[in-house]
Parts: sequence; C-alpha cells; structure tokens
Amino acid sequence: MSDAAPGASASAATTAQPASTRTPADAVAIDVAVAALRAGELVAFPTETVYGLGADASNPDAVRRIFEAKGRPADHPLIVHLASPAQLAGWARAIPDAALALAGAFWPGPMTLVLKRHPSVIDGVTGGQDTVGLRIPSHPVAHALLAAFGGGIAGPSANRFGRISPTTAAHVREEFGDRVRVVLEGGPSEVGIESTIVDLSGDAPTLLRPGMIEREAIEAVLGVSLRLPGTHSPRASGMLASHYAPRTPTRLVAADDLAHAVASIHGRAAVLARSAHPAGLRCARWITAPHDPAGFARALYGNLRALDAVHADLIFVETVPDTAAWSAIRDRLGRAATPA
Ligand code: TXA
Ligand code: MG
Repeated sequence: MSDAAPGASASAATTAQPASTRTPADAVAIDVAVAALRAGELVAFPTETVYGLGADASNPDAVRRIFEAKGRPADHPLIVHLASPAQLAGWARAIPDAALALAGAFWPGPMTLVLKRHPSVIDGVTGGQDTVGLRIPSHPVAHALLAAFGGGIAGPSANRFGRISPTTAAHVREEFGDRVRVVLEGGPSEVGIESTIVDLSGDAPTLLRPGMIEREAIEAVLGVSLRLPGTHSPRASGMLASHYAPRTPTRLVAADDLAHAVASIHGRAAVLARSAHPAGLRCARWITAPHDPAGFARALYGNLRALDAVHADLIFVETVPDTAAWSAIRDRLGRAATPA
C-alpha cells in the first residue's frame, strides 16, 4: 500500500518548504493524495477548522489505520467529510428537515451533523453506533480533495489522542512525523477550533460540541432550543473532560490575578493573555492573543503549542469573557486546563 504514491510525487503533496514559500496543495498534490486514499493510506488535509487525518471512509483497513496512528480508542466515532449535500443520502437515513435546514445555512462550513447512519456505513467509522457524523468543509483544498476522491473521507483532527488539534501542516508533522506521508498544505486554518457538532438523530436537536457557529445562530435556523448532551447522547471524544491539552500543566486565571500568579510560582511560567505583558514581570514567554473571539480562536492552538514548546513549569491562560461569542473558546480552554 505504501507504493501508491511514488516518492517524487508524494513530495509534491508534502510541505518541506519554509513557511514563507508554502503554497496550497495543487492539482498534482491532490492527485497524489487521492491515489493514497484509494490505496488505503492516510492523508492529512487542511480544513477551515483544524487539519484532519483522512482515510477512505468505506475501507475498514484504512479506517483502522487512523486509530492506530492517533492512538485513539477504537469505539470513538469519526466524522465523515463529503464534497456535496447530494452525497448525504448515501451516508445517512431518515434525514430530518432540520438537517437540510442546517446544511443549507451552514454548509460548506464548520458544522458537523450527527444523523442516523445509512446501513452501508462501516462500524469502524461509527464506533458501532447507529449514527454517523457528517461534515462538508469549506476549505478549498479539502473541497478539491473530496471532489476528486468522490467518496467520503473519515477524518478526526490530525493529532495524537488527547493532544492539541493541528491548525497548520507543520503541526501535523510535529504530531506524526513520517507516519503520515501525505500532508496536504492549506495554510493556517481560518476558524482554528473544531466544528460545532449538532446531533439530529434523537428526539430533540442536541449540541454535542460547541464551535464558532454559535448556538443562537443554530437555534434561529431550527426555531427550537438546542439541548445539552445528556447521559443518552452518543460518545464524543471532544466531550472528555481532559482533551486538547498541552503537555505543560495549564491553569486558567482571571486577568486581575494573572500578574500575581505569574510572580508567585516557583519555576517558569508561560502565559496566554489578552492583556499586555506587564513591564518587569518575569516569565518564560508571554503571548498577547487577539482580543476578538474569531482571532483568538484562529490563533489558539498555535499559541498553546508555542507555549508548550518553552517547557515552562506552568502555562497560565487568562480567562475569556463569559459571553456567547466566547463559549466554544471557554469550552476548549476548560479542557486544556489541568484540574488544580
Ligand atoms: O472540525 C472538525 O470537526 C475536525 C475537522 C478535521 O473536520 N474534526 C474533528 O474530529 O474534530 P475529531 O474526531 O477530533 O472530533 C470529532 C468528534 C468526536 O468527539 C467524535 O466522538 C464526534 O465528533 N463524533 C463523530 N461521529 C459521531 C457520532 N456518530 N455520534 C456522536 N459523536 C460523533
Ligand atoms: Mg480531535
């Protein structure tokens, strides 16, 4: 299977160049990636949320390779990425009007719909559940790949299980090195955090994972309130308490307490704040993040990776506003933070 993409062409699909000269994957790179998918290999690809680790969603051996590479428990379901809503009927059954309404409003884009699975969908993708997660991404490289491949691409975020999701091709290579030969370049992910997941397979629409498409916007389309996940909701690894975590212990601190917290630890602190670095306050690294939620989210995972890389004793993250626009970011920060 590793012969599907000849070395010379495969390098066209990878990104050995420095950041300044990186260009998005071209038609040659897409061809190499499609050949790899058809041969049952893994292909990392950009999306507008985070990079995905893709495999042919109808090939059980290929899907198994995703779990091996990620170190992810085999019963965690994967999202299937599609090129167009016309493909929905091949992956889901009993598609409710609500799904068509959300698809019309938010696809292509950073939203995943959980629907009742079509009988042909393999257990490796659904984790044996009766549902399947589906998403039509808007990133042009993802779209080109999906359109050229023609089938569904099963793809979790391209990180090792429990770690920070990648938002650049370089992050993907940090996670997997040579284990994933084909990494399509698509520049930094525009949204920066994972898709909003709405479960429409049950009695009432349920928000399984908040994302940058806000709850209120979804409710406005549906005309009903979204439920929060209960004990009967399907498994979603993004719902585990500790997820998206840097290796360095991470604490959330209110802006007013930040300088004191940094000054009083024994050891080196690294900081992600929206406020500026106070003059004279010693720390290993202080990153001042964008003040708006979209900018903060776009930079978030790259910032956490950069802070992790200084090998401080603690990462302090300044808390973000308690408003709807920040709720998906609050969710990710809460999961990144280590319980005290
Ligand atoms: O933005 C995203 O969603 C990215 C990009 C690559 O598309 N993907 C992503 O995949 O975040 P992953 O596997 O890291 O997270 C997908 C989440 C998991 O929490 C998974 O359990 C949940 O979606 N999921 C997938 N299928 C599901 C299903 N049938 N029922 C419930 N949850 C499901
Ligand atoms: Mg993930």
